[in-house]
Amino acid sequence: MKNLFQSKTKKGIMLFILLSSITLTLSYVAFSQQKKEEWESPPAADKKLNPLKPDLAGIAAGKTLYTKECFSCHGKTGKGDGPAAAALGKSPGDLSSKMTQDHTDGALLWKIQTGKPPMPSYQKKLSEIQIWQVINYVRTLKATAKK
Ligand code: HEC
Repeated sequence: MKNLFQSKTKKGIMLFILLSSITLTLSYVAFSQQKKEEWESPPAADKKLNPLKPDLAGIAAGKTLYTKECFSCHGKTGKGDGPAAAALGKSPGDLSSKMTQDHTDGALLWKIQTGKPPMPSYQKKLSEIQIWQVINYVRTLKATAKK
């Protein structure tokens, strides 16, 4: 009687371990796939309109801010090849790419304000107007993009 009980307990434990490892594997797969997904901004943020006209003075101000705050990772032309990029362990992507350029200004504002490690949040660092200026500058990088 006692032996039978023990072997049932053993089987139960084995089954438990088996099921847990399957669950762990599946959730790991789900998690790693989720990480590969594009960084999505909330639809409400996408609709926010840029109040600034992309005039030369604003773009120049945006370029100065970009060089100070973003260049180290995103690089001179937004290709993600700044001097700090290699050490990030994650590519900053390509701001001149179709993927980024297809985002609305509102979506870019949200991403820059929110950040996503290793990219910092600029909510407190830059005013909204400054971020719109940076966005107007980032739009000028499109010209250097390959299709
Ligand atoms: C410390 C490095 C670092 C700095 C500084 C940085 N970024 Fe980033 N940025 C990243 C990384 C890494 C990503 C990719 C995040 C991801 O998708 O997981 C990213 C993503 C982005 C994206 C999203 C692109 C897309 O298509 O989804 C935008 C826009 C962006 N950065 C703009 C900026 C701007 C503007 C600045 C300066 C105000 C800035 N970043 C500063 C590292 C940085």
